[in-house]
Amino acid sequence: MNAVEIKKDIHWIGAVDWDRRNFHGYSLSPKGTTYNAFLIKDQKNTIVDTVAAECAGQFLCNASQVTDLSNIAYIVVNHVEPDHSGALPRLVAACKPEKIICSVMGEKALKEYYDTEGWPLHAVKSGDSISIGSRTLHFLETRMLHWPDSMMTYVAEDKLLISSDAFGQNYATAERFADQVDQAELFKEAARYYANIVLPFSSVTLKILDAVKSMKLDIDMIAPDHGLIWRGGLVSRILSDYRQYAIQKPANKAVVFFDTMWRSTEQMAHAVAEGLFQAGTPVAVMSLKSNHHSDVMEEVFHSGAVLAGSATHNNGVLPSVAAMIAYMKGLKPQNKVAAAFGSYGWSGEALKDVSDALAAMHCQVIEGVRARNKPTHDQLKACVELGRTVSLALQDKIAAWS
Ligand code: FEO
Repeated sequence: MNAVEIKKDIHWIGAVDWDRRNFHGYSLSPKGTTYNAFLIKDQKNTIVDTVAAECAGQFLCNASQVTDLSNIAYIVVNHVEPDHSGALPRLVAACKPEKIICSVMGEKALKEYYDTEGWPLHAVKSGDSISIGSRTLHFLETRMLHWPDSMMTYVAEDKLLISSDAFGQNYATAERFADQVDQAELFKEAARYYANIVLPFSSVTLKILDAVKSMKLDIDMIAPDHGLIWRGGLVSRILSDYRQYAIQKPANKAVVFFDTMWRSTEQMAHAVAEGLFQAGTPVAVMSLKSNHHSDVMEEVFHSGAVLAGSATHNNGVLPSVAAMIAYMKGLKPQNKVAAAFGSYGWSGEALKDVSDALAAMHCQVIEGVRARNKPTHDQLKACVELGRTVSLALQDKIAAWS
């Protein structure tokens, strides 16, 4: 896609990666992603962020549509992760900038990723600013949102916050603005992105939202490094949604994920789901044979209750369930009611292993159900009862919250 002017003399010059499907285990659904970068034309022409190395050609071509690369004076690196800095070596070689501006942690990371000999690195801290002519760039460090080096750049004269990964969506489109696409799909992608990337940093997110509020920044556009740019009324909507995402208030919704060997645990999963539904909790049932862990995580994020089923396999948990639990543990979801269930042949360790893992994630764990070989009618009734018990515990938790 070509360069697009998003504000007077501020141009999107990023790249659309229609084919990207995976970021270190996070499946992007069929949407691909974009790597957003921006060129601000002023006395000191400035590029904020770059793109993944494999998209450097598209990015440099877009920048060249706006100005000759030799006219670029400053480069701002809000975030060193290679999807945003991969094209930096080619850009630096092409434009020989006066300054490469990054956070202190960004400077360290750049030196570890690239041969920075001779690069004019210039580290900034929160509160620092740099004039580029008629505009001043203000920097806000956002450590651990979501890497130690992360920062945002605010252009006060244009009421523009360039927010790095925060507020992004992995969503490849020809459009550049959030108001130009289907809103339900857009906000689904924004939440999915939060669930799979930002969730473990929710406490940092709340602090940064508070900092932005207390600084009384006048913002009418938020330009993240992935996906669509928020403008108009959607700015306050995404700020508000991020606060809700980060608070993680439990919702009356449940997900039952499981894997099964000979369908016994599958029968138990459906019985548990029936109990949840009977007691008033909407539920999604997700076999790990059919669903990617990113899709399950999206449901976990939206659900106040998580029920995990595994048959016992080699005295432990089935590998797919172990992988799902490891993925979920890393993303640190909060305020969940949880329970385990599953079948076994002779030893039956999976129930305790899964229950212990859920407790280690600070879930409120309800005692689960296991069944030897094939669940009996009474054991399936116990699974239905487990679903009902979890639903009632969740409803109590929600009531106690408000
Ligand atoms: Fe989009 Fe943290 O990189």
